[in-house]
Amino acid sequence: MATQMTLNVNGKAQTVTVDDPQMPLLYALRNDLGLHGPRFGCGLGQCGACTVNIDGKAMRSCQFPLAKAAGTKIVTLEGLGSSADPHPLQKAFIAEQAVQCGYCINGMIMQAKALLDTNRHPSDEQIKQALAHNLCRCGTHVRIVRAVKRAAAEMA
Ligand code: FES
Ligand code: FES
Repeated sequence: MATQMTLNVNGKAQTVTVDDPQMPLLYALRNDLGLHGPRFGCGLGQCGACTVNIDGKAMRSCQFPLAKAAGTKIVTLEGLGSSADPHPLQKAFIAEQAVQCGYCINGMIMQAKALLDTNRHPSDEQIKQALAHNLCRCGTHVRIVRAVKRAAAEMA
């Protein structure tokens, strides 16, 4: 039976109608709300491409049941900034040319956002640790760490 659910996404109340409230939040974000920042990578909680921030914490939306997301505050990449007014992390990733294919970048930025929200002066080691479970097959890790440092300096 179809169920209506209201989610708070990027500061707005959004209603979705779903057959299975236990389905992954990622599917509702991408397929029902058209938010394509979060990516489907492994679907198993292992790569980080689908990361969103839920109540300020970086969470893997491919493993997060929609039913549990009701009543939380969800922020996706689209909620961080726009092309006209990008978030410091988005600007820094461009400035450091940290993107190759781009598939992992949503997860890297959303994970880094959760880090910088609690630590405005992370060391290289702390950045590497925070991003250790976000996979990048293109191997741009060095530039990604530089981008997070650059954003931290701008936000400090
Ligand atoms: S798609 Fe969610 S962790 Fe890989
Ligand atoms: S830039 Fe291609 S997977 Fe990271």
